Amino acid sequence: MDVVVVDDAEAVGEHVAALVLRSVERDPALVLGVATGGTPLPVYRALARGSADFSAVRVVALDEYVGLPAGHPASFAAYVRHEITEPLALPTGNVVVPQGSGQELERRIRELGGVDLQLLGIGRNGHLAFNEPPSALDSRSRVVALSETTRRDNARAFGRDPVPTHAVTQGLGTILEARHLVLLATGVAKADAVAAALTGPVTPDCPASVVQRHRQVTVVLDRAAASVLQRRRNVDGADRECIHHPQL
Ligand code: PGA
Repeated sequence: MDVVVVDDAEAVGEHVAALVLRSVERDPALVLGVATGGTPLPVYRALARGSADFSAVRVVALDEYVGLPAGHPASFAAYVRHEITEPLALPTGNVVVPQGSGQELERRIRELGGVDLQLLGIGRNGHLAFNEPPSALDSRSRVVALSETTRRDNARAFGRDPVPTHAVTQGLGTILEARHLVLLATGVAKADAVAAALTGPVTPDCPASVVQRHRQVTVVLDRAAASVLQRRRNVDGADRECIHHPQL
């Protein structure tokens, strides 16, 4: 696992965007797994400022609410359209946002030949995509109930509308099949979850801890999100060399 700590959310965006660009240069038909939420926005905005050609890139999102009217502005379909498909000029036929059942999502991912590079956020409660604690570490894509923490954290996007109670999400086992995982976190509110996920036990109670089971993981954090992890490592004196601070 490669853990990169940079100054702030903007720098996380630049660092991950550079990684995506290198991957697209190597493989113009890359299958890019995208996370939604606030954390990866600086990544998509950094990509949109550049001039790379994304016309052959395929994109698949991790999850989507269940039961929202089509086109609802808080849907992840709307997020992907506004933040990714349109700014990067992706053909809409190249974009998969989960819809319907978990089996349908699994089929779409299989048809794409699997995900090459998967961007991931993390919830304050350690969720990964919408795999809420506890989630089986080998779970497949399915419809899940959202936790109260998650519904509260995501309420800002819904204004006066009720936050959905359910979502369809890639499972933890599904996510582990991506070839390269990139976990991003920014802000002190994520610091405990990041430390638990990266240094705690691999357990259904912290779904994001499953990344410890993957052999190619890049973690990109700002200083605030890394603060508990770094304190813990300083105390333990363990493995500090795997945390580095790149000069961008
Ligand atoms: P956020 O969401 O980026 O909006 O904090 C991340 C997540 O809940 O996985």
